[in-house]
Amino acid sequence: MNQNTAKTVLILGANSDVAKQCILQYVAKGFVIFAASRSMDSLNDFVAKNGLSEKVSVSYFDAADFDSHQKFYDELSIKPHIVVYSAGFLVENVYALKDFKGTHQMMQVNYMGGVSILNIVAMDQSNKNLERIIGLSSLSGVRGRKSNFVYGSTKAAFTTYLAGLRQELAQRNITVNVLVIGYINTKINVDLELNKNLLMEPDYVAKHIVDAGNSFTIVPNFKWKLIYFILKILPESLVAKLP
Ligand SMILES: NC(=O)c1ccc[n+]([C@@H]2O[C@H](COP(=O)([O-])OP(=O)(O)OC[C@H]3O[C@@H](n4cnc5c(N)ncnc54)[C@H](OP(=O)(O)O)[C@@H]3O)[C@@H](O)[C@H]2O)c1
Repeated sequence: MNQNTAKTVLILGANSDVAKQCILQYVAKGFVIFAASRSMDSLNDFVAKNGLSEKVSVSYFDAADFDSHQKFYDELSIKPHIVVYSAGFLVENVYALKDFKGTHQMMQVNYMGGVSILNIVAMDQSNKNLERIIGLSSLSGVRGRKSNFVYGSTKAAFTTYLAGLRQELAQRNITVNVLVIGYINTKINVDLELNKNLLMEPDYVAKHIVDAGNSFTIVPNFKWKLIYFILKILPESLVAKLP
């Protein structure tokens, strides 16, 4: 990878459909990318197919292998300016309630892995490059609902972590954003029947990530913004009537 003096973005969980679109958009803006994923073959194919090998370096990262995170970070040849945590795992509520393995995996990927690696990133005061940390969370974490509260609770925890991290890092002028996202047309949802009128495309969501400004909470799409604000203020008795 040709790093020159371009700013660097570290993407954790970079084989995500949304993360791949982020890679394309960050590269178009002149960034170089450390793309970290369990699925290096798939990501290398993507990089080759898009002619990005000069701009993107692929490395192995398992969000759930907490003990490997410090070494992973130490081995980055340049410490990042921007970090995006996009790893995510979803087991439907009905299965998650009966099988703790899937629940545990969601906790590990959606919350614990994020806290583990982002604590390391955030506490490296020698990295004068760091400008921004962005976490991908979900509307399912806004209120506990019957249909998805196990997954949702892992995202709620991640959102709360990012809120505190933002306060912690403000004195170093580092911005933290959370993307509170509705339905996206990606592989995490292959088994789900989702309302097509509310489905967003990965490149659309990626644009909101790449263009993140100073607001902590970013909710892509006006329909989802409306749902987000309604969910926030809805009395618990009405939330309980939702699916
Ligand atoms: N799609 C939606 O409707 C939606 C809504 C709200 C929030 N989100 C969040 O948006 C983020 C991106 O998801 P997506 O929609 O782009 O779906 P996706 O394509 O399935 O991306 C999820 C990514 O997480 C990676 N991952 C899972 N376990 C991991 C682990 N142990 N270590 C490292 N990476 C791991 C997966 O890796 P592999 O490619 O190797 O399987 C996959 O690339 C996720 O955090 C998701 O929860 C998605």
